[in-house]
Amino acid sequence: MHDLIRPVVVAPMAGGPSTPALVIAAAQAGAVGFLAAGYKTPDLVEAELRAVRGASVGYGLNLFVPAKPPQDVAAVDRYRRLLQVEADRYGVDLPPVRLRDDDHFDAKVDLAVTYAPPLVSFTFGVPEKGVVVALQAAGVAVAITVTSAAEAEQALTVGPEVLIAQGGTAGGHSSTMSPAGYRGNTTAVQVLAAVRAVTDLPVIAAGGTGTAADVRELVTAGAVGVQAGTVFLLADEAGTRPAQRAVMQSQLPHETVVTRAFTGQPARALRNRFTDEYSEAAPVGYPAVHHLTAPIRAAAAERGDAGALNLWAGIAHTKARQASAAEIVASLIG
Ligand SMILES: Cc1cc2nc3c(=O)[nH]c(=O)nc-3n(C[C@H](O)[C@H](O)[C@H](O)COP(=O)(O)O)c2cc1C
Repeated sequence: MHDLIRPVVVAPMAGGPSTPALVIAAAQAGAVGFLAAGYKTPDLVEAELRAVRGASVGYGLNLFVPAKPPQDVAAVDRYRRLLQVEADRYGVDLPPVRLRDDDHFDAKVDLAVTYAPPLVSFTFGVPEKGVVVALQAAGVAVAITVTSAAEAEQALTVGPEVLIAQGGTAGGHSSTMSPAGYRGNTTAVQVLAAVRAVTDLPVIAAGGTGTAADVRELVTAGAVGVQAGTVFLLADEAGTRPAQRAVMQSQLPHETVVTRAFTGQPARALRNRFTDEYSEAAPVGYPAVHHLTAPIRAAAAERGDAGALNLWAGIAHTKARQASAAEIVASLIG
């Protein structure tokens, strides 16, 4: 398992960027890549597993741990009313509030057991022990994403092989189990140190990696691997949406913010009209808020209007450039 975790790990990026081609190219370039099962149907996940398995390379699969229904349903209802103006603006209907959605978790775990990728990682929480045991019995090494020492201790109770220490600098959703108070103000170095203080397990560090110096810093601080996402968003093999590529490649200055506005779970994204207008009002409530904003985001994407898109990216967005995945891996290995 240790040989599988290369110094550079290409992060799972659900919502388009992660493709079998990116995972295969990463492996061929001396990194290890993850397929992202989040939001996909089990059929699509299976097709991607087949595509990568056929290439005979090391790889991982990432799953979302199902969220508990939001505690404050009234806050989600209030947010829905607030979003009506956006629905009108884009000419879409807001769906009724949908509190439960397990993202086909059981079916995806079954696929992971059947296809037994060398690594399976989890985000958004700690899977049940039975899930971890079933994967391990199939020969899979299990990794759990955490954002603090307390979450690491919780993850250790189910016996994973690896922890992923995710800093607040990371692009996309935070795996935090405390979404109400999450500010995203930790670095990967800080979370790595906090996690290593409570375990001797191998730890992969994630967040803010844009250069070989960033990778070296985290490896020197004890990480067995460094999981980078944002810096691969413009890779030729990535399935990043054209609207996001265009924003990232424009000469306009950008900054990132941590927001629950799109999904109800804190995520780091490029600041835009939607994050400015809704970050303060957005409640905790993944995936209910994700479903509420989905038609708005889809309509905005169709119009090429990046102002209402969830442009997930971390602080390393300034280092992202269009190139092959192999070139980006090489730039990180140094
Ligand atoms: C567009 C995007 C999508 C992401 N989707 C996932 C995902 O599906 N599962 C997951 O565990 N992490 C996801 N992440 C977070 C990464 O695993 C990782 O923590 C992060 O990319 C590391 O920070 P960096 O973006 O600064 O390199 C995503 C990140 C981005 C940028």
